[in-house]
Amino acid sequence: MSTTKDNPIVRTVASTQSEMTEIILPNDANTLGNLLGGRLMHFIDLTGAMAAYRHTRTHVVTAAMDHIDFIQPVHVGDLLNLKSSVNRAFTTSVEVGVKVWVEHPQTGLLLHVASAYLVFVAIDREGRRQAVPQLQPETPNEIRRYADALRRREHREAEAVRRKQARREQNRN
Ligand SMILES: CC(C)(COP(=O)(O)OP(=O)(O)OC[C@H]1O[C@@H](n2cnc3c(N)ncnc32)[C@H](O)[C@@H]1OP(=O)(O)O)[C@@H](O)C(=O)NCCC(=O)NCCS
Repeated sequence: MSTTKDNPIVRTVASTQSEMTEIILPNDANTLGNLLGGRLMHFIDLTGAMAAYRHTRTHVVTAAMDHIDFIQPVHVGDLLNLKSSVNRAFTTSVEVGVKVWVEHPQTGLLLHVASAYLVFVAIDREGRRQAVPQLQPETPNEIRRYADALRRREHREAEAVRRKQARREQNRN
C-alpha cells in the first residue's frame, strides 16, 4: 500500500471526542438477559471509529482492539454510555481510547463497564493508506494518554514480532 506525504494538519483531542448511548434490548442479550460481550465490542468499535473518523476525515479500518475487561454486567433495559477520543496519531494510524458506563435507568447511577484501546488505519476509497493529521494534547490527562499510547504501540509491535517468531518455529517442527 502507498501513503500520501506528511499531513500538515494538527487537531486537538477535544475535536475528536465522540459519544454514543444505546438502550439494551433482548436482541443484545444472552439467555440471562445480560448484554453479550460481542455486542459490547461492536458498540466499542463503532464509538472508537467515530473519534478516528473525526480526526482523519477519511475512511478508517480497525487494525486492532486491545485487551478488554468486562467489569460490570449490563442488563436488558439499561442504558449504555460510551465515550471515545484519539489518544495519539502516528503516520497512517491513530490510537483511540473508549470508556463505557452503564446507567441504571431509574436511579441514574453510572458504573464503569469496560475500557478499550483501538488502532484505526486511515485509507482512501481504493484502500491506499493515508497520512493522518497530528494530535496536539493539551490537558495533563491528554498528555498522559499521549505518552501511554506510544508505550502501548511499542508493546504491540514487540508482541507482533514475538508471535511471528513463534509461528516460524511452529512451522519448522
Ligand atoms: C490494517 C491494515 C490497513 C494495515 O495494513 P498493512 O499494509 O499491513 O500496513 P502496515 O503494516 O504497513 O501498517 C500500517 C499502519 O497500521 C498499523 N498497524 C498495522 N497492523 C496493526 C496492528 N495489528 N495493530 C496496531 N497497528 C497496526 C501500523 O503500525 C502502521 O501505522 P503507522 O503508519 O501509523 O506507523 C490491513 O492489515 C487491513 O486492511 N486489515 C483489515 C482491516 C479490517 O478489515 N478491519 C475490520 C476488522 S474485521
